[in-house]
Amino acid sequence: MGDRVSDGAYLCTLDDVPDGGGFEARAEVLVLRRGDSAWAYRNVCPHFSIPLNYEPNTFCAYGGELLMCAHHSAMFRFEDGVCVDGPCLGASLTPVPIRIEGRKIRVDEQGPR
Ligand code: FES
Repeated sequence: MGDRVSDGAYLCTLDDVPDGGGFEARAEVLVLRRGDSAWAYRNVCPHFSIPLNYEPNTFCAYGGELLMCAHHSAMFRFEDGVCVDGPCLGASLTPVPIRIEGRKIRVDEQGPR
């Protein structure tokens, strides 16, 4: 996959993502979900520029609020991808804008309409 995922590209459904957890929807795109809300980020930890998970499609999340990198335990907020604890405190995951159509999650490069 290149640096961009094309606008409108299908990622997954809300139901593919565990409530309060994460799902690697396609190469290097991680979708996080809490209830009917979802956020997507490149699956790259800003600490060492490696994937946030160690095992395929296995992500550590706490309380539907924080995602933990499997390597050195940096903690990222679901809502904005900011690291709030750990070795890259204050750094951010790279957001992938999305829209939810029905229960389908798609890339949304156009932003809110
Ligand atoms: S690589 Fe993610 S915390 Fe170090």
